[in-house]
Amino acid sequence: RALRGRGADLAGRRLVISAGGTREAIDPVRFIGNRSSGLQGYALARTAVARGAEVTLVAANVSLPDPAGATVVRVESALELREAVLAALENADAVVMAAAVADFRPVAPHDSKIKKTSAGPEPVHLVENPDILAELGERRREGLKPYPRVIVGFAAETDDVLANGQAKLARKGCDLLVVNQVGAGLAFGTPDNAAVVLGADGERAEVPRGPKEDLADVVWDLVAERLA
Ligand code: CTP
Ligand code: CA
Repeated sequence: RALRGRGADLAGRRLVISAGGTREAIDPVRFIGNRSSGLQGYALARTAVARGAEVTLVAANVSLPDPAGATVVRVESALELREAVLAALENADAVVMAAAVADFRPVAPHDSKIKKTSAGPEPVHLVENPDILAELGERRREGLKPYPRVIVGFAAETDDVLANGQAKLARKGCDLLVVNQVGAGLAFGTPDNAAVVLGADGERAEVPRGPKEDLADVVWDLVAERLA
């Protein structure tokens, strides 16, 4: 990394990264989940440590080894992820929400395992989860501490990738939004990614298909600029 001129440009910076995908319990043995592997979030953690940052990684259901030098907090649900991110935010300079957070959770998980009956399946009633990324932007707008100076979100889109990304950036009140196209062998569970990073300040950085570390380093370049 030093060869690429990045050196220890994040030394002394405290960064919070969320990774993986949340699981929302239906009953003690079942959950609603998603396909996020945590690879991109872990690549963000490794590259940030390599550039000298102090990293807290909030990992939701990731089966990857802890990145050396990062503090790892393991969570399962969106509500747990929110608590862990808010707790880690004390004195943090920046947050990157790479985790896939479930938009909805079962209203009340069953205490015991749901059994098959002749009456057929019962519907699972859902309620909306808090939008953690949007909440961080709101905290900052209202000056409600702790909030980070730089807020980065991720968006996985299938259609109208750029238009959806621009709208989401505005709606979430974040500084940077990493928009990647899902499908075509990219994103979920693969070592490669391709993305465009959109900024509230008009930034538009295209990152061609390559290792998730390359995208991570571009994200940190843009974060470092904004923290300077
Ligand atoms: N996010 C979050 N809390 C949620 C949902 C999403 O913090 N309850 C964050 C994700 O970590 C990601 C960003 O918001 O950084 C965008 O997530 P995405 O699912 O693409 O956005 P949504 O607003 O949920 O829109 P959509 O209807 O497309 O799912
Ligand atoms: Ca969503």
